Amino acid sequence: MIFLYGFVNNWPHSKVAGGSSQDSLICICFSAMISYLLYVTISIVLWMQLQPTLASVEITKGINGLDKLVLRQIHGSTVEVYLYGAHVTSWKNDHGKELLFLSSKAIFSPPTAIRGGIPIIFPQFSNLGPLRSHGFARNRVWTMENNSHPLQSKPINGVFVDLLLKPTEDDLNIWPNRFEYRLRITLGLKGDLIMTSRIKNTNTDKKQFNFTFAYHNYFRVSNISEVRVEGLGKLDYLDNTQNRTRFTETRDVITINSEIDRIYLSTPKKLAILDHKKKQTVSIQKHGLPDAVVWNPWEERSKTIVDLGPDDYKSMVAVEASAIGKPVILNPGQEWKASQKLSAVTSH
Ligand SMILES: *[C@@H]1O[C@H](CO)[C@@H](O)[C@H](O)[C@H]1NC(C)=O
Ligand SMILES: *[C@@H]1O[C@H](CO)[C@@H](O)[C@H](O)[C@H]1NC(C)=O
Ligand SMILES: *[C@@H]1O[C@H](CO)[C@@H](O)[C@H](O)[C@H]1NC(C)=O
Ligand SMILES: *[C@@H]1O[C@H](CO)[C@@H](O)[C@H](O)[C@H]1NC(C)=O
Repeated sequence: MIFLYGFVNNWPHSKVAGGSSQDSLICICFSAMISYLLYVTISIVLWMQLQPTLASVEITKGINGLDKLVLRQIHGSTVEVYLYGAHVTSWKNDHGKELLFLSSKAIFSPPTAIRGGIPIIFPQFSNLGPLRSHGFARNRVWTMENNSHPLQSKPINGVFVDLLLKPTEDDLNIWPNRFEYRLRITLGLKGDLIMTSRIKNTNTDKKQFNFTFAYHNYFRVSNISEVRVEGLGKLDYLDNTQNRTRFTETRDVITINSEIDRIYLSTPKKLAILDHKKKQTVSIQKHGLPDAVVWNPWEERSKTIVDLGPDDYKSMVAVEASAIGKPVILNPGQEWKASQKLSAVTSH
């Protein structure tokens, strides 16, 4: 640009070297004008070309006018989050391919929870307590926090949003505990989706509380019959389809050919979902979340779920990073932190 500016600036002078001073003045004005226009044009073109490649967070409206945030990374990956439930409904890789499952019959209408994506299960998993199934965090409108209490590290080259949930007076009637739940959702440079939860007991009456928790990840798969879940081999699990009776997994790799609803206990930090047909592996790296739920309702159970299409079970598997086996106990002032990082890679 500087080179062009110099070129345009000098060119008229060389041409009018022998002209009158008035001519040369006009020419200088003319050249200055051309230079300026060129400068403006080139700046606009460069700005327009750079614009879509900048990482960004957009605040927009989603289905039924619900507030939605869109995170974009420079190579093209995106994440969509509804403030309703702090619910991630979409995670796309650099090529625009969707990695999460969203029900064909998902209902975007509070207080119904959205079926698919990543519901936040807090403070109660399933019916393991007095609350309605899966607690209430997924049924509340969260707020955006613009200056969150500092997390130890800011994500390098990541684009993120900080969301906050505090109980309302109505919530305190059903679950009498004050808390601050901060959720950071980060889209990494390479398209990783990182979710970090910090839950603080802010009870003022010296009361401790306990809760169970899950990132209820619904992954999109090409054919459930050809999916393998790695990392759970030979572990103990509670079978939700059999009164949570405890069993030991006999297989090394989990494949799914019928209804499955299990809480695997004390699982490794890394799990993987292999989709042979798509030649894609999605990994879950988790911290502070010892358990992992594997769920697919299969054909019969699907018929009892109103917001799930009859064939949807074929293209989804839920693998949930969770803390269920031992409830998390928090004393007043204490904060619990847990995170998961989802990454997708092409496999062979
Ligand atoms: C944070 O910023 C967003 C967008 O500017 C705004 O809508 C929201 O109300 C802000 N949140 C708080 C808690 O100030
Ligand atoms: C969790 O809290 C409930 C309600 O206060 C209590 O009944 C239960 O015993 C607690 N569980 C644990 C593991 O502390
Ligand atoms: C899914 O995979 C199973 C087992 O390989 C196969 O029988 C079935 O036809 C596949 N379904 C589709 C829709 O491709
Ligand atoms: C589960 O427990 C209930 C109540 O104890 C019992 O009625 C039911 O038969 C049990 N179901 C299975 C599948 O074991």
